[in-house]
Amino acid sequence: MREYRIQALRQVISDYPIGIIERRYIKAELPMLPFDDKSFDLVLSGHFLFTYSHKFDFLFLLSSILELFRVCSREVRIYPVHGSNAQPYEHMVELLSSLKVHGIVYHIIPVPFEFQRGSNQMLRLTR
Ligand SMILES: C[S@@+](CC[C@H](N)C(=O)[O-])C[C@H]1O[C@@H](n2cnc3c(N)ncnc32)[C@H](O)[C@@H]1O
Repeated sequence: MREYRIQALRQVISDYPIGIIERRYIKAELPMLPFDDKSFDLVLSGHFLFTYSHKFDFLFLLSSILELFRVCSREVRIYPVHGSNAQPYEHMVELLSSLKVHGIVYHIIPVPFEFQRGSNQMLRLTR
């Protein structure tokens, strides 16, 4: 894990100067993103939303996920679905039913990665 993270950090640092000029790195802050609807085929969110669910209220999580979905044309993937305490997000049932109301198809699917024990699932959203 440590080697993987250091390698990722090195790649980002070496790519960052040209990436900024080419506008591949854009500063933004959920729950609002500065992108048009369906700007991206695939949207990934890692170690942010449910990870910090002890700090965010339900409305922030729901509006952030709806915003990720708005800018996506095909698929949103959110990992993990657990909080930093390695427990599943406590309001997941309510969250998923709210996504369904917005016409979003959701699946919680296993992934071959386990950042914390038992934390090996992601939330996949499609149209
Ligand atoms: C634990 S890091 C995860 C970084 C990366 N996604 C990963 O998996 O290694 C959480 C990230 O969320 C970013 N962040 C904090 N508030 C945010 C917000 N309102 N909208 C989007 N990102 C935010 C932080 O800057 C930080 O880079």
